[in-house]
Amino acid sequence: MVEHSSSESQSLKKSKNIWLKNTLNSVKVSLYRCLWLSIILLFQIVVLNFVLCAPSKSISINTQILQETVMPLPSLQSNQCQSGMVYVYDLPVMYNKELIDNCHDLDPWHSRCKAVSNDGLGPITAGLSDGMPENLAPAWYWTDMFSGEIIYHARILKHKCRTTEPELATAFYIPFYAGVAVAKYLFTNYTAKERDWHSEMLLKWLQDQPYWKRANGSDHFIMLGRMTWDFRRSNDEDWGSSFIHMPLMKQILRLCVERNPWDHLEISVPYPTGFHPKSKSDLDQWLNFVQTRKRRSLFTFVGAKRKVKSDFRSILLSHCYNESESCRVVDCAGTRCYDGTWEILEAFLDSEFLFTA
Ligand SMILES: *[C@@H]1O[C@H](CO)[C@@H](O)[C@H](O)[C@H]1NC(C)=O
Ligand SMILES: *[C@@H]1O[C@H](CO)[C@@H](O)[C@H](O)[C@H]1NC(C)=O
Ligand SMILES: *[C@@H]1O[C@H](CO)[C@@H](O)[C@H](O)[C@H]1NC(C)=O
Repeated sequence: MVEHSSSESQSLKKSKNIWLKNTLNSVKVSLYRCLWLSIILLFQIVVLNFVLCAPSKSISINTQILQETVMPLPSLQSNQCQSGMVYVYDLPVMYNKELIDNCHDLDPWHSRCKAVSNDGLGPITAGLSDGMPENLAPAWYWTDMFSGEIIYHARILKHKCRTTEPELATAFYIPFYAGVAVAKYLFTNYTAKERDWHSEMLLKWLQDQPYWKRANGSDHFIMLGRMTWDFRRSNDEDWGSSFIHMPLMKQILRLCVERNPWDHLEISVPYPTGFHPKSKSDLDQWLNFVQTRKRRSLFTFVGAKRKVKSDFRSILLSHCYNESESCRVVDCAGTRCYDGTWEILEAFLDSEFLFTA
């Protein structure tokens, strides 16, 4: 996060457009404020998902045994995918694989190769094993917040309701990494045409596909790993690409890490976290570890000041330093909190509440 904000302020300094600068700042400040909340929410959703899925799994195994004795297998299979099957387009590589292959060129400042590695999960953490149960260390990855579209693609390819025969499909997933593709064009003065290039080409390709024509695209969907506002440019000189404003997108359902609340075609999904448990037992063990841990401070703030006017993070940091009895500071100035250390996770684990900004 901090890495991003310093890169960001660097690019903002260069910008001559004051209006864009202010807009960006206010959007970014509130987006990052939401980020940790989203991460916490995601964790809860993962927990809920497991809690809800786990018993139903054992129930479904039981019913499977029951059904196998009374029913033929095909009807059992269709029961498992009651909403139908998903077909995953095999897109030309320029829309996904080639972007990942060129990972050193996805961002104006750094290589993104680690962030997009491992099907979007990122590298397995090293150095986290000191403080946590030893066998859980492999469940923690340095997952990048913007890799949701890569993770989603890898997972749906293995989904039990995926079909490789389009005529059997109820829904069509378009594995275009729109957020990965646009990232490097966001922070520098690329032209509107350059920012829209991948999106325009993709939609041209798509409208010639026979299964697009079948329902005029209304059974198609995509996953967007960056916030919707990165794809909603109205004027050439404004922020982002205009992907979502392109006519064909009016047909396509979008899963999005930050949706536009007024767009009924968008569905929010959480940002990815770094915890990727491989079994229910991993999750149970982690929950037990977290719940039984002694909380030594009431609040924790992890972050750094930003070089912007009325910086909210600076105010929060100052409050936290002044209340050192109850508030713990992990000051990211000068260090790369983005790459994470055990210190950050430990600060979260040792605290009752977190400040997010
Ligand atoms: C951005 O604009 C500057 C000044 O007009 C120019 O020198 C530079 O090449 C531009 N960069 C890009 C990526 O277009
Ligand atoms: C298909 O979708 C496009 C874009 O939304 C729309 O302009 C067009 O009228 C639709 N065609 C049909 C046959 O529904
Ligand atoms: C923290 O304490 C310093 C020194 O007493 C004071 O100047 C500053 O205003 C305080 N910060 C906040 C946010 O209250």
